[in-house]
This record gives sequence, structure tokens and C-alpha cells, in this order.
Amino acid sequence: MTGESRETFGSKMGFIFAAAGSAIGLGNIWRFPYLVGMYGGAAFLIVYLVMVAIIGIVCFVAEVSLGRHTRQSNVGAFKAIKPSWAPVGLIGIIAGFMILSFYGVVGGWSIYYFFKAIAGFPSADPGVCGDMFGSFVSHPVSPLIFTALFMIATIYIVYSGIQDGIEKYSNIMMPALFVIIVILAIRSVTLPGASAGLEFYLKPDFSKITGETLLAALGQVFFTLSLGMGSILTYGSYLSQDENIPSVCTTVPLMDTLIAFLAGLVIFPAVFAYGFEPTSGGGLVFITLPAVFSEMPAGILFGSAFFFLIFLAALTSAISLLEPVVAYMIEEHGWERRRATVIMGSIIFAVGIFASLSNGVLSGFKIGGMVLFDLLDYISGNWLLPISGLLTAIFVAWVWGSDNALQEATNDGTVEFAWGNLWANVLIKYVAPILIAIVFLSSIGLIKV
Ligand code: PHE
Repeated sequence: MTGESRETFGSKMGFIFAAAGSAIGLGNIWRFPYLVGMYGGAAFLIVYLVMVAIIGIVCFVAEVSLGRHTRQSNVGAFKAIKPSWAPVGLIGIIAGFMILSFYGVVGGWSIYYFFKAIAGFPSADPGVCGDMFGSFVSHPVSPLIFTALFMIATIYIVYSGIQDGIEKYSNIMMPALFVIIVILAIRSVTLPGASAGLEFYLKPDFSKITGETLLAALGQVFFTLSLGMGSILTYGSYLSQDENIPSVCTTVPLMDTLIAFLAGLVIFPAVFAYGFEPTSGGGLVFITLPAVFSEMPAGILFGSAFFFLIFLAALTSAISLLEPVVAYMIEEHGWERRRATVIMGSIIFAVGIFASLSNGVLSGFKIGGMVLFDLLDYISGNWLLPISGLLTAIFVAWVWGSDNALQEATNDGTVEFAWGNLWANVLIKYVAPILIAIVFLSSIGLIKV
């Protein structure tokens, strides 16, 4: 696509909602709480918040600027500035492919839980809730049906293009999601026995921080802000020339962080109040919340609304995962949008089938001690996103040049960017790349911090 014919978002709010729709998703409501649970509670939360501020927002500005400047999606953007860097874009495409393949499975779970919620969750007993989740996700057929539904919805929206698809659907659900999460947080913190959960979530024990904690937090920053795989870069390429990059690039990460923080406030008080294990991993949200809903007044209403909103949040993220893969096939291989969407979406779904089955019939097949589902999550989140984020930061700062990037971010100096010089001369040049490199190298054991 050439610059002129390229579709753009219809409005600034359109971009903000679409980018927030991309950022806010299962990463906030499902992945963030279970990582907090696994990696030590409040200590993880603090590390995470610091990293959002000094790495996440910094890289967010870089991606949006690069996308808008080149008007290309991931691979093309690197190529437009320096062709030899195109492979960096490809890492992002591969990451997006891997993420969507398991993300679609969890998206499917949210649809199933929506129907379960309408029927009413049976009990607040941890054993019953755990069994319900376990027997559903390990079933060879039923989760696949819901994953298929989820992927069809994703494909349909991407197929419809930018304004009629992505933008339209993103505009509706953000405020609704916010309201319902606030209500649930209030419910959760007022449960008898909630205080132990609040302590776990908010009172840090720094001795719990290890190299793995740092890497998981870093990976989560990239995952939750949709960085390192071209989603934000690609959305940036649809951002029109007169929008204010510094403002949208702080608004979206702040919204994202707020939702994740609130999700923790919903989950942890309830986890402790009902005697669940916070370290139980990917089932945490799906096991804990049904317990809360089963006992809460109007639990059917809140429960079904909540899982419906999770479904919508997941969907707006999933379309942003598929879009860069599709844009890549269109721009680099000359495919037509519809063909690219259907074919790539179907291949991703096919991988997702194996990811889903790895929670059940294929659970005996492990690589590095992990089933396929966990492996896709771990490799893409903890490895590919940080690596590609690191290379993108280096690329923007040193290859494209942070002064050029700053010109783009400020619309040639016409837009206020209060910390623009700090961003261009310090944060994107040194702080972000060095921190990412240190965390990454230490967690894989190459250096010791
Ligand atoms: N940010 C999304 C979430 O938190 C997931 C995502 C990751 C979307 C990477 C796009 C790219 O759920």
C-alpha cells in the first residue's frame, strides 16, 4: 500500500481506543494476576510498575513514531529505514503468530465461561471450581469449539479492515470494562478474609525478586502493552499525521496499567478469602472468579457481564495480534487482505488446536518441562518480545536516530512533548536498551546482577 491510499483511523479517540483495545486484554486480566501470584506478589507488582514507566512507555513512543513515519507495518517499517534490519520485524511477526495461537484458546475459555456464568457458577468451593476448570480445558473437543468461535470473530473483524472493523469494535467496550472491574474490586476487597490478599498484593517482600521475576515482569510489560511484535507499530502506521503522539502514548499505557492493577485487586482478595493458591498459574482467574460470582448477590449478572467483557477485551487484542501478520503478508508478499486474513488466521487456529490439546490429551508431550500451551506463552512473552523490543529500541535510537524519531513524535516540533529531550537523549538511547539487555542476559544466566 502506498502512503496515500493507506487507511487511517478516523479520529484520535479511534486510535486511543484501538491501541487501548490492543493493550488491554487477557494480558491484564488473566496473565498479569497469575504472574503476580507466581512471582511473589507485591514485589512483582512494583518491579512491573517501574518497568512500565521507564521501559514500556519509552518503547511505546518509539514504536508509534516508527510506524507513523514509515507508514508501514512491522517488517516494512524497518526495511524502509534500513533494509538489513528487516529480520527484526520478522521476529515480531513470529511472536504475534505464537501469541495468538494460545491467546485464541484463552479467548475461547472466556466465551465458555460467559455461558457458564449465565447458567450460574455452582459453588465457591475451591475444589469444585478447580475441577470445573480442569475438566473443561483438558477436554479434547469443547474448548476447541470455543476457540474456533473466538478465532472466527477475530478473522471477521480483521477481514473488514481498519475503520469498519478494528476501530468500530474497540470504541464500545473500554468504559464498560472499566466500570465492571471497579465494581468487582469493591466486592472483592470487602469479602471477609480479604486482607491477606491485599497484603500479598500490596506489601512487598523484596527478597522474592529473582532474575526470573525480572524477566517475567519485563516480558509482561511488552506483552500487556502489545510491544515488540508490531501491533502498536502497525497501529501507529494507521495514525494520521496530525495526531499528538506523546499524549496518546502516555494515555494508553496508563489506562492499561490501571486495568491490570484493578484486576489484581479483584483477584487477590478473593483468592485469599476463599483459600485458593495464588501460585496456581494460568487457571487463577478462571478458578477464583467463579467462586466469587457464585456467592455474590446478582452473581449471574456480574459474572456474565464480566466474562463477556473479558471476551471483548481479548477480541480487540486478538485483532491487533492478527493485523500485523496480515499486514505483513499484504505488504511483503502482495497478498490480498481477505486471503491473508483467512489463511493466516486459519493456520494460527491450527496451531491453537495443538496448544489447547496440550492441556489435555497431549499433556504428556513436554519440551523443556512445558506443554505446548505454556511453551508458546513462555517463549513468545519472555524471549521474543524482549529481544525484539530491545532491537527495536536500538534501531529507533541508533539506526533511524532518536533525533529523527523525536521530530516524528512531535510533528516536527509543533507538538508539546515535555520529556521529549529526555526520551531522545537518555531513555530510548541508553536506559531502555541497557535495562532490557541486563534483565534479559541475567535471567538467562549470562551475567549476574
Ligand atoms: N496486550 C494484549 C493483552 O494484554 C496482548 C497482546 C500482546 C496484543 C501483543 C498484541 C500484541 O492482552
